[in-house]
Amino acid sequence: MSIQEELNTTIADLVRPGRGILAADESTPTIAKRFSAVGVESTEASRREYRSLIFSTPGLGEHISGVILYEETLQQLSLEDVAIPRLLCNQGIVPGIKVDMGKGPLVNAPGDEITYGLDGLSSRLERYKSLGARFAKWRDVFHISDVLPSSQAIRSNAEVLARYAAVCQAMGIVPIVEPEVLMDGPHSISRAADVSEEVLLEVFKALHRHQVSLEQMVLKPSMVTPGKASRRASPEEVAHATLAVFRRAVPAAVPGIFFLSGGQTPEEATDNLNALNRLEEAPWALSFSYGRALQEPAQKAWAGQRSNAGATQAALIKRARLNGLARSGAYAP
Ligand code: 13P
Repeated sequence: MSIQEELNTTIADLVRPGRGILAADESTPTIAKRFSAVGVESTEASRREYRSLIFSTPGLGEHISGVILYEETLQQLSLEDVAIPRLLCNQGIVPGIKVDMGKGPLVNAPGDEITYGLDGLSSRLERYKSLGARFAKWRDVFHISDVLPSSQAIRSNAEVLARYAAVCQAMGIVPIVEPEVLMDGPHSISRAADVSEEVLLEVFKALHRHQVSLEQMVLKPSMVTPGKASRRASPEEVAHATLAVFRRAVPAAVPGIFFLSGGQTPEEATDNLNALNRLEEAPWALSFSYGRALQEPAQKAWAGQRSNAGATQAALIKRARLNGLARSGAYAP
């Protein structure tokens, strides 16, 4: 297959109707936090057991088109000794890989952060591709306050995100472009809308500068919501605010917008996606790429016990199925 064919096939596989992406790419420190919330120690063995269990959920491929993995998992064998990427392919799911190397302070911009990971990216991608990864993810993070994010942070992060996306496409790997505007803080929904619009405009300017093919990428943004320490907004309010911003800032050539859940409860994330798909028709597929909102109930059900395997898989498939319905506005709460 040519590079172009590889990219087009992966896009078509990811945006299949009724399906979204499962983000299971928590770094080792992040998964340790998630496990500790359900009383489980994070070890290579416990991570392998949990992830092997959720990826083997019968029928998962009916609602999930792609799974984002962390490097460790891409190289792991399932409990039945099948390579994890192979297990996913057997479920009709495309394996993907998180490739950014985390984030840290942006010098001379107090409070802002920058994402790392461009050095050596193409050789890492080559190895990940040989292990079965067909798409990648890179996450930029933007904090909101009265003065954050600075224009320096917006420009610098957009630039690295676009450079990552260009490298991925050159190697036949579909880039997931993730500019996350954080929900932390007391800001209003209109402040979140202003910041999201500014960030997205800058990201698409950078993608254009680096000649990234918009038809062969996926956008993974946050929905436009009020800060966590502010009042809650209804799903309709979130849907209106989100679509208003995205119509202004995201070209129609982008095939899919796969939202992150970013700290919304599993129910909120489903309700909000459903409301988005109930508004007037949008030019892009509006779907999910949830981590916590898909996995939290499954992690609680599991609690580190293999005897809870059935309940763990039932909890995961329930959220996957409901979000699969919300993907077309067909979820009836
Ligand atoms: P959440 O849905 O838990 O925000 O995770 C999605 C993700 O991949 C963040 O990078």
